Amino acid sequence: MADLLWNAGVAVVVAIDGPSGVGKSTVARAVAQRLDLAYLDTGSTYRAATLIALSNGIDVCDEDAILTELATHTIDYGAAGVEIDGVSVAPQVRTPEVTANVSAVSAHPRVRERIVAIQRDWVHRHGDAAVLEGRDIGTVVFPDAAVKVYLTARPEIRALRRAGDSEAADSSIDEIAENLAARDRADSTREASPLRPADDAEIIDTSDIGIEEVVSKIVDLATR
Ligand code: DC
Repeated sequence: MADLLWNAGVAVVVAIDGPSGVGKSTVARAVAQRLDLAYLDTGSTYRAATLIALSNGIDVCDEDAILTELATHTIDYGAAGVEIDGVSVAPQVRTPEVTANVSAVSAHPRVRERIVAIQRDWVHRHGDAAVLEGRDIGTVVFPDAAVKVYLTARPEIRALRRAGDSEAADSSIDEIAENLAARDRADSTREASPLRPADDAEIIDTSDIGIEEVVSKIVDLATR
């Protein structure tokens, strides 16, 4: 990590934002490995909050009820992925039910505040240096991130990539594309921290380039 860009006095964060199906997870994990940094999938923390709401019979539109329930649980991220109360729930947060409800839960501003606090604390506990993938890392969670990247890809490419994920196993390409478009709309039009590139983010279209090329570009940005 010696030659990594350092911002004096602040956490060293590589922020990788963008919608689903652009290759964020694969790229972010590989960048973290190459730079020897911790890796946090922030989407999984919103998914954990959604799972907590759903498994307690809470209406995902009821922000107060979600917050009250969240206060009685811990959300963390370990080697096996996201954890609720110390237990990995990585597969459980990838069900179609959680996927269908996560945009509603993550649109609540006070839920976001709570989850963002968990994410910042996680980075602090991991030596103030990490690669984070999400939707608002470069705009809200770490606006001083050392590197900000926003990944995009054409809609049909994103749908094809998502088709390979376990959560989409039973859906047709058309259903996946519709689902992605609906989630994009919800995530980019919400009032609280909408999905958008930071003004100073490097935008990389991953449609026609391989993962390794994307990873190298980001590693170059982090070590230039
Ligand atoms: O990356 P993902 O598909 O697991 O994210 C699930 C949802 O979480 C996504 O639809 C929007 C929300 N999310 C968010 O609002 N902010 C983030 N930083 C990450 C995810």
